[in-house]
Amino acid sequence: MLEGKTVNLRVAEKEDVPVFVEWANKLEVLGEYQGLVQMSKGEAEKMLDTSDVRLFLVEKKDGSKIGFIAHFHVLHTGTGTRQLEVGYSLIPSERGKGYCSEAVKIMVDYLFLSREIVRIQAQTDVRNVASQKVLEKAGFKREGTLRKTGFVRGEWTDDYIYSILREEWKEPKILTRTERSVRH
Ligand SMILES: CC(C)(COP(=O)(O)OP(=O)(O)OC[C@H]1O[C@@H](n2cnc3c(N)ncnc32)[C@H](O)[C@@H]1OP(=O)(O)O)[C@@H](O)C(=O)NCCC(=O)NCCS
Repeated sequence: MLEGKTVNLRVAEKEDVPVFVEWANKLEVLGEYQGLVQMSKGEAEKMLDTSDVRLFLVEKKDGSKIGFIAHFHVLHTGTGTRQLEVGYSLIPSERGKGYCSEAVKIMVDYLFLSREIVRIQAQTDVRNVASQKVLEKAGFKREGTLRKTGFVRGEWTDDYIYSILREEWKEPKILTRTERSVRH
């Protein structure tokens, strides 16, 4: 469990698959700017078992589940390196309350504290202002535009690519380092 001030991130378990599948298949949760995904429970269970995707539930302090945040690998075909990318969605009723900004800050702290990586990246539709603000508040910088890289509701769409480098992050913002573990 990664503990923040208003939300915690908890690694998804098998019993979280039904709620995750419900969200992943729901247009309102994916929002206007993400592709339409249809995922079965079996596919979600397989995803939880792969080392390439790590899914966390975003929970409020009362334990209610309000969304998810994941980190996963993407291949940089030019160099063959694997880059870590993050993605997230909250249920509509819990948006606009600062929860996702905190969730992304926690995830960035966690990844830089626990892995020997120099960079974390994220992509977001150029129209998705809320997501861009979330990333910028967590210290990500916009690197450029990936033209016609997404296919959303029948249209090719442009994405911004963002990243934060270890030297820009400098130190944990929410999680603090302890001798043996990472905790709040
Ligand atoms: C993107 C998303 C995760 C943002 O989560 P959130 O918890 O609502 O974000 P926050 O409350 O932390 O808000 C971050 C900033 O965006 C602003 N914001 C929120 N919704 C906004 C909107 N619809 N348009 C413009 N700005 C918005 C907030 O005011 C805040 O800015 P501020 O700190 O300057 O006031 C959420 O809107 C969502 O789940 N959308 C659908 C899925 C999605 O698009 N995921 C991202 C794919 S890349």
